[in-house]
Amino acid sequence: MGNPSVSAQLRNTFRFPAGFLWGASTASHQVEGNNRWNDWWELEESGRLPHRSGEACRHFELYESDFDLARSLGHTGHRFSIEWSRIEPREGHFDAAALDHYISVVRALKVRGLEPVVTLHHFTNPAWFGHRGGWTRADSVRLFRRYVERVAAALASEVRFWITVNEPTVYVMRAFIAGDWPPCKPGSWIQAGLALRNLCRAHSAGYAIIHKYRPQAMVGLAHSAPYVVPLAPARRVDRFAARMRDFVLNALSFRLLGRPPSRVLDFIGINYYARQVVRWSARGTATLVGSEHKDIHCNDGRQFSALGWEVYPQGLQETLRRFAVYQIPLIVTENGIATSDEAQRASFIEAHVRALARAMSDGANVLGYFYWTLFDNYEWTEGRSAQFGLMAVDTSNQTRIERPAARAFEKICRSNSIPMEERP
Ligand code: BGC
Repeated sequence: MGNPSVSAQLRNTFRFPAGFLWGASTASHQVEGNNRWNDWWELEESGRLPHRSGEACRHFELYESDFDLARSLGHTGHRFSIEWSRIEPREGHFDAAALDHYISVVRALKVRGLEPVVTLHHFTNPAWFGHRGGWTRADSVRLFRRYVERVAAALASEVRFWITVNEPTVYVMRAFIAGDWPPCKPGSWIQAGLALRNLCRAHSAGYAIIHKYRPQAMVGLAHSAPYVVPLAPARRVDRFAARMRDFVLNALSFRLLGRPPSRVLDFIGINYYARQVVRWSARGTATLVGSEHKDIHCNDGRQFSALGWEVYPQGLQETLRRFAVYQIPLIVTENGIATSDEAQRASFIEAHVRALARAMSDGANVLGYFYWTLFDNYEWTEGRSAQFGLMAVDTSNQTRIERPAARAFEKICRSNSIPMEERP
């Protein structure tokens, strides 16, 4: 006779398909250190950004031992980004040593059994590109294409999964609407529109180039996909504000890519962090995205991260279901929490992986899950304060310090399964 509680547990275990990718995501400027030739560095040094990236995590030198750690945590894939400003530090001048470096990075992943997922643009631009007007200029697409040609020629035979652009909408909103990211142009609506259009064109151009070098490549973009709901569904103005925000953040870039999206996307990368509860306000309407309601002290049972982002696993399930309608595979390219509470991090991961499992049981075709992020890093305008990492970093000597939740995630990765909550 089997143990009934064990068989209930087994019945309630979701098994992911063989080859499902488990890993963590990183981005060049946040971890490499000394990215001196990009637009962030320039503004960090001039004091126009609140924090300096400096040595970051010195991952540029330490990538091999970092990948050893990822492997020891049961990961089977790893997402990282190539720093355009290293490949092309001056306009038209390509640095062969930088390209060789990334070839070594890819090989270091592969010998450890980690499938590389390569991002070509993760928020930073070469400083010279910014001086020319960056993404607002039509020839930005040509310049990006030239960079992608070099990278694809060198790496396409080694890399199957590619992300052209990380979160085009977030980049544009921060750079040209909020204006707190380079080139720091608040309220520049026309520039925002031009930049978004050019980033979408750059994606399509990158898609074609990578396929030229590797017809079977899987090329996508990483889309920031908040789950947007109105504060009071009965209030028409709140519903309107939420619909507008959702359109701008979740639909607009897909419209700009043209239809059907499967023409230029082999998968959609979903970066999911939080639910956004939106209420109408005159100011919010002026920014097209409404005002977020996040009273983190109101004790209404909602849970928030240290950055005030609402923890809402069901939003991942809804989001995956929603994007599954495009009938293109999905990859969770980022999902994570900034917290100093390890129990909260572990339960965040488990709850989100369960939500992913539910979406997959409902038919969503998802190929992998990447936690954001491998270790604490330079979190843009938040500096070093946000603790998203599976590992902490002692910045005095760059030691990586494993966190308990890394082992909770390891269990999921190694078993390729997740015990589901008992159902009544
Ligand atoms: C970005 C990362 C960032 C993370 C947490 C994502 O939007 O792609 O670069 O660190 O969110 O804020």
